[in-house]
Amino acid sequence: VNEAQKQAAGEAAAQLVESGMTVGLGTGSTAALFVRALAKRRLDITGVATSVATASLARSLGIRLAELDEVDAIDLTIDGADEIGPQLSLIKGGGAAHTREKIVNYASRRNVIIVDGSKMSKSLGEKWPVPVEVVVFAHLQTHKRLEEFGRPVLRQKAGSVVRTDAGNVIYDVHAGEIRDPAALDRAMRAIPGVVETGLFIGRADVVLVAEASGVRRLTR
Ligand code: 5RP
Repeated sequence: VNEAQKQAAGEAAAQLVESGMTVGLGTGSTAALFVRALAKRRLDITGVATSVATASLARSLGIRLAELDEVDAIDLTIDGADEIGPQLSLIKGGGAAHTREKIVNYASRRNVIIVDGSKMSKSLGEKWPVPVEVVVFAHLQTHKRLEEFGRPVLRQKAGSVVRTDAGNVIYDVHAGEIRDPAALDRAMRAIPGVVETGLFIGRADVVLVAEASGVRRLTR
């Protein structure tokens, strides 16, 4: 679905990268198309991966990688998103990588998000639940606390519980339309056992939306 649009977004983002940059590499199918387009440009860059999966993809394509703690700062990060609401607020974490993605995002001078047109929504939360990374210890207690905000569903794939790169679990909290995403983010993160939410508020400088008619550039 929307493969050509994802490809167009990935290629447009690769054009933003210049030799000498340290580049944050996002996670997911759209970000993977960006990583492939970037590798084709054969620039002299250093990548900082947001997941084990992205690190192995980048390495296989010959992109030099560094750990975030080995670099001073990231010049530009390109990542995908699951849903984009008003003021370029984001829901991320469909690939269970949102904690690392958020750390890399905050370390980056510029953040560009690439999506196909199906991800745009009028009200954040109308299309996607909020992924919340939770430590395994007593996660049923954390589940109970999360019920205050909606219906939390422990993420499973092919019959087994999904674990993040850090070994934690994900609850997808079906919260409906979110009127105040910043307040919801704060309230969820105040629960012991919650590592991070997939709400990214005020963290996208630019969104590149690929549609049938071309790539649109949105700024906050
Ligand atoms: C991973 C993410 C991804 O960026 C998000 O899930 C989008 O993925 P895709 O490009 O495959 O739709 O946040 O945690």
